[in-house]
Amino acid sequence: MSIQKPKGTQDLLPGEIEKWQYIENKARELCSRFNYREIRTPIFENTELFQRGVGETTDIVEKEMYTFIDKGDRSMSLRPEGTAGVVRAYVENKLYGEPDVSKLYYIGPMFRYEQPQAGRYRQFHQFGIEAFGAVDPSIDAEVIALGYTFYKELGLKDVTVEINSVGNPACRAVYREKIQQFFAPVKDKLCKDCQSRYDRNPMRILDCKIDQKYGEGAPTILEYLDEECTVHFQAVQDHLNAMEIPIRINPRLVRGLDYYTHTAFEYKAAGIGAIDTIGGGGRYNGLVGQIGGNDQPGVGLGLGMERILLVLQAQGVDIPTAPPLDVYLIGLGETAEREVTKLLQQLRVAGLKAEKDYLGRKMKAQMKSADRYHASFVAILGDDELARGEITVKTMATGEQQTLSLEQFVAAMQKQKAL
Ligand code: HAM
Repeated sequence: MSIQKPKGTQDLLPGEIEKWQYIENKARELCSRFNYREIRTPIFENTELFQRGVGETTDIVEKEMYTFIDKGDRSMSLRPEGTAGVVRAYVENKLYGEPDVSKLYYIGPMFRYEQPQAGRYRQFHQFGIEAFGAVDPSIDAEVIALGYTFYKELGLKDVTVEINSVGNPACRAVYREKIQQFFAPVKDKLCKDCQSRYDRNPMRILDCKIDQKYGEGAPTILEYLDEECTVHFQAVQDHLNAMEIPIRINPRLVRGLDYYTHTAFEYKAAGIGAIDTIGGGGRYNGLVGQIGGNDQPGVGLGLGMERILLVLQAQGVDIPTAPPLDVYLIGLGETAEREVTKLLQQLRVAGLKAEKDYLGRKMKAQMKSADRYHASFVAILGDDELARGEITVKTMATGEQQTLSLEQFVAAMQKQKAL
């Protein structure tokens, strides 16, 4: 039996890959406008990084990591998300204050052992940004605005931004107790996961689809924010309003990762079935210290690329695919074929997208290929024409044919492309 790809992974094939390139180029170009610079960190890290960073009691670390012991007897894990690795690199390479606030972005694969379904994979890709060194609420707003602008410029419709504050450790400790008190009478009825969350991470019960009915009327974190957290949350909203980014406050928004403080947010879009979250992020003021650095604040986001593509498809939004060929070259006869190799190289060096036949096929089959590549021009060179120093060029859109001198050919094609 032939070998197949692992469950929950995808081959990204020509035809589809152009859409990925388009989205990735948009991400890079947008980051440049917002003054974020790229960082690339390893796909695998010491397992301890994610235990300390993402949190021991999260689903991601408890159940979803691809963890293995390497030949040196170390526990390694494929990265389930991007933030922990970027924080580690920031600390290890002492990027503090370069030049003042470090604004970084990344694009790459992440791995989670989840039950695959539409929009949920075991290997998926995130575009993420992280900004270190500023507590100012304007940077929380900037991060949220960057994600929103990204979706907008790609053409996604009806994207909602939900925001919440998860407070600081002090207000969270108070809220944690309130939540435990609230769920105490129904503790035995909660699902198995939530029974263990009750002691370890009770806020996560609010996020459970199964126990939703027990969460109705639960106190919200916003009722327990202290002065500092309230002021910060209000300022983030003020900045977003000034930027005309539409937001919806969702006091029940709890993220699946432990490192958040203050701002937490998610982007939602309809169209991909049960899963409607297409991206999320927030502030993480204690994380750099937890990973072993001097305690710099941070804020960032992660957007799932597969989910963007699914929403674009569901909403019928077209994005540009491969640019067509400029010239398809056909050589008829032995000498002409050699000349074609030379002309092809000249066209490509001159900046044109050019192709020829490699299978010794007849003229008709080659014309079909030219059609399939959506070539703008087909250039035909026979031995007789070569002897006369000429080449026939057919404009595919109109069917019109012209004879050009071989000497002018490359320059003429270049001129056409520039039109
Ligand atoms: P996250 O909410 O776990 O956050 O993931 C961010 C996004 O990654 C999700 O909204 C979704 O689009 C995509 N995603 C997550 N899991 C899967 C999956 N199994 N299949 C397909 N797509 C998926 C984080 O990862 C944080 N690191 C975000 C962040 C950055 N917070 C601060 N900085």
